[in-house]
This record gives sequence, structure tokens and C-alpha cells, in this order.
Amino acid sequence: MLLWNPEACLLMEFNPVEYWNTREHPNTSEDPGIGAVELETFPDLLKNSTRTLELGPGVGRLFPLYTGKDIYTLDLSKKYSERLRHQALLNNVKLTEFFANDPAAKFPFEDDYFDLAIAAHVLYHVPFKNIVHTIKELYRVSTRALAIVSNNPKWPVKSDDYPAHLWVFNHNYQEIFEELRVSKVTDLYPERFNKVYLLEKN
Ligand SMILES: C[S@@+](CC[C@H](N)C(=O)[O-])C[C@H]1O[C@@H](n2cnc3c(N)ncnc32)[C@H](O)[C@@H]1O
Repeated sequence: MLLWNPEACLLMEFNPVEYWNTREHPNTSEDPGIGAVELETFPDLLKNSTRTLELGPGVGRLFPLYTGKDIYTLDLSKKYSERLRHQALLNNVKLTEFFANDPAAKFPFEDDYFDLAIAAHVLYHVPFKNIVHTIKELYRVSTRALAIVSNNPKWPVKSDDYPAHLWVFNHNYQEIFEELRVSKVTDLYPERFNKVYLLEKN
């Protein structure tokens, strides 16, 4: 069965707000688990974080890693909020939710407000016209930011390329970090295909 209609996609302008407010399950699986990379990476980073942002938390797949923590979220979608609040209760997470209805809007937080800002499987869904802004904001509001991203040769590398299923985009993250003059970028797992970048300020 075809899950998408390539011809219809060609005519469609991707509208992330509409898309995420209508997509039933934000993860590929209906009942997603926590990945090995997250299990390995999060406990250490969260240990020293008193105020953490998760950008695009979806249904709170990662919330079991946040037990006892003060977590702020910012999402374009309100569709997952009930499931997210449920995860917060289950995992004893103190949750403060924020929503945006414009991917080009400034994040509603002061500079360096968070000890850690996490974007897990979010940035490759951000269209080309918004990606620099989104990474800039993530870095602005936090002293450390963690970006879990992927690239796939089948995904588009520029905006007029053929749109990919589930709206995923190949961004040149390293080039964007340079453009934004991120002080320190660490590729936490250089040998792995899925990249986990830690961005830090001096
Ligand atoms: C693939 S899901 C990932 C959910 C969660 N981070 C995880 O790893 O399970 C993408 C999430 O990012 C949100 N999102 C997409 N673009 C966004 C943006 N520009 N700003 C904030 N949230 C965004 C979606 O609404 C959705 O909740």
C-alpha cells in the first residue's frame, strides 16, 4: 500500500503546524521505546541540569529519562499534549508546556534560560527555510544543547527537491553550526550514522 501520494506531495507546500497538528502519532511506531543512544547519553547530561527544555517532545517518549526533573517543552502541536501530560504524571516529571504556531517565531525564553535544551528527532523535520532559525533559538536559550539528528541520502537536500515521505530533510548541520558561530560542537558518537551533537557555549 502506498502511504503517500508523490504527485500530491509535489503540489503540497509543507505546513509544519498543520502537519503536526493532524499527524496521529509523532513517532514512526505507535508505541515507541527509548533508544540506546538516549539511554547512554541522557543520564549524565541531565544530572547537572536543573531546568531543561525539550523542543518537540511529541507524546513524551523520553519522559522516563526525566524522572524528578523540571522539564519545559515547546511544540508546534497541541495534539500530543494529553499523552504528554500523562507521561509526566507517570514519570514524576514537573512539566511546563509551551506551544508555538509559527516555526519562525522567537522561542518564548530568555537567553541561557536552560541548562540543557534537547531536540531529539525534531531538526530533520524542520523545513529548509526554518532550520537556521530553529537551531539558533535552541542555542540561544540554553547553555548546552543536544541535537539528535539523522541524514538519509533519500531525503531532499534543498527546498525544490522532491519532498520525502513523512517530511524529512537533509540539513548540513555542521555548516549551520559554523554559520551560527557555535563555540563548541561535539559529535558524541562519531562512528555512528545517527548523529548526536552537543553544542556548548564558552
Ligand atoms: C518525530 S517527533 C519526535 C518526538 C520526540 N522528541 C521523540 O524523540 O520521541 C517530532 C516532534 O517535534 C515537533 N516539532 C516539529 N517541528 C517543530 C518545531 N519547529 N518546533 C517545535 N516542535 C516541532 C512535532 O510536533 C513532534 O512533536
